[in-house]
Amino acid sequence: MLKIENLSKTFNANTVNEKKAIQNLNITINDGDFITVIGGNGAGKSTLLNLISGTIPSDEGTITIDNIDISKQKEYKRAAYIGRVFQDPMTGTCADLSIEENLSLAKRRGKKRTLRKGLTSEEKKEYKSLLGSLNLGLETRVSSKVGLLSGGQRQALTLLMATLVRPKLLLLDEHTAALDPKTAAKVLELTTKIVEKDKLTTLMITHNMKDALKYGNRLIMMMDGKIILDISGEEKAKLTVNDLLKLFEQATGEEVVNDRMLLV
Ligand SMILES: Nc1ncnc2c1ncn2[C@@H]1O[C@H](COP(=O)(O)OP(=O)(O)O)[C@@H](O)[C@H]1O
Ligand SMILES: [Mg+2]
Repeated sequence: MLKIENLSKTFNANTVNEKKAIQNLNITINDGDFITVIGGNGAGKSTLLNLISGTIPSDEGTITIDNIDISKQKEYKRAAYIGRVFQDPMTGTCADLSIEENLSLAKRRGKKRTLRKGLTSEEKKEYKSLLGSLNLGLETRVSSKVGLLSGGQRQALTLLMATLVRPKLLLLDEHTAALDPKTAAKVLELTTKIVEKDKLTTLMITHNMKDALKYGNRLIMMMDGKIILDISGEEKAKLTVNDLLKLFEQATGEEVVNDRMLLV
């Protein structure tokens, strides 16, 4: 479904600040794969997602989706079929628009921009029922400005918006890292619910090893812009946090000191 071949990206090439963020990376992702992505700070996780979505251009390599080479395609074109949620709850939604207006914008993703004629009652009904399924009480606040929502509510809404028009690919970059543990767990549950219901092909970056093991059917670990571990199915299901920490420490030669990784 998604095939990445010999992908490379170097920042500040030929300067003292040169950084090979992605180095000759190869991966084939199958339709419906839910992949959790782990790796230390600066491993190249976000850069990989940015290259897939076209936020930054690659130096070398190809990215194909459904046998179409998208490597040179502009970001806005890819946005028509790639959904994204970032760490910062402020980035995915428009604070000055209401919940239903945000959803209405998301519904038009990838379509030619048309003059807004307000929401139809049919649309309003659809959004209300979708919001109800989140169990966050948002269905009673459809005309509230999104700026009034909590971080968790905004991330849940962003997730809904990113998947309202079924994306070919869903990219999540530590989308629960800025939330308190309880809210993070709620948003993660919602994530699996949506991913499983729509069988979405998903890449989810997480700092949390437990989450990386709990969610998805496949796990990749990155280091120095390369994939150093790629496990799926039964093999992934059998892994424990301890196994993963050992593999992580073996690969990086570092002890895991980041508390966030060990959060329950
Ligand atoms: N726009 C940029 N300009 C220069 N260096 C960058 C840029 N984006 C990322 N990098 C560098 O590339 C490396 C990989 O970064 P990133 O993909 O953000 O890592 P991760 O998400 O795994 O923490 C890091 O060393 C980072 O400093
Ligand atoms: Mg990152």
